[in-house]
Amino acid sequence: MVKNKLDHLAIIMDGNGRWAKQRGLKRTEGHKAGAENVKEIIQLMEKYQIKYLSLYAFSSENWRRSPAEINALMRLLKEFLDGYEVELMKNDIKLLAIGRFEKIPPFARQRLLEVIKSTKNNSKGVLTLCFSYGGREEIVDAAKKVAADVMAGNLNIDSLDESNFTNYLYAPEVPEVDLMIRTSGELRISNFLLWQLAYSEFYVTDKLWPDFDELELNKALNSFYGRERRFGKEQA
Ligand code: IPE
Ligand code: IPE
Ligand code: MG
Repeated sequence: MVKNKLDHLAIIMDGNGRWAKQRGLKRTEGHKAGAENVKEIIQLMEKYQIKYLSLYAFSSENWRRSPAEINALMRLLKEFLDGYEVELMKNDIKLLAIGRFEKIPPFARQRLLEVIKSTKNNSKGVLTLCFSYGGREEIVDAAKKVAADVMAGNLNIDSLDESNFTNYLYAPEVPEVDLMIRTSGELRISNFLLWQLAYSEFYVTDKLWPDFDELELNKALNSFYGRERRFGKEQA
């Protein structure tokens, strides 16, 4: 059997709060450890030939959390970008972000837009931060853009199909997801990349995100490589 090709890995980085609780720490300490782990995993992209890595860092529903936790997460986003921009340049990784940025406070949003700009010509890998992101919102926003194009006379509604609809998503250059990993054991999508996950392979581990390391990544990749992806066809 030919080994499956993995171009795009997407991760729901869950379990920071539980990781902190297990250690008697504040939830924000768990988020800090989670952000450190993001750096470790990005470093592995080249080694495992993962061209596209998408990370779910803050969902459209996470705005329901307490103001204190939300503030801590916004600060962490800024600190991550401040401290990691040089590494992204060194590793030739382009940063993209998808989500409703207008809700992110300006001090963090500005840094996000700056790093997206400064890394835009990097070409070895593409890191997509899903921040203030919701899969349903993305589809609704795409539908609005389609409607606007139809009204402006730029698109004939009958020519709309699955292929050109993807051009209206937040990051059309990013292909659909091959493997989606969720840490900390929850068996749900939590409004992550709904369109792009349509035919992804899923892998769930009980490991909490700050503990998800190279060994765990290997387990997930080996599981993925050993599967038969049928896309609706009969079994080989
Ligand atoms: C994931 O960890 C990080 C975010 C959602 C921002 P959680 O904060 O959801 O951690 P648990 O699920 O409470 O353990
Ligand atoms: C999903 O985790 C979002 C991120 C990891 C950013 P949550 O912890 O918010 O998801 P639920 O609430 O368990 O569905
Ligand atoms: Mg969670």
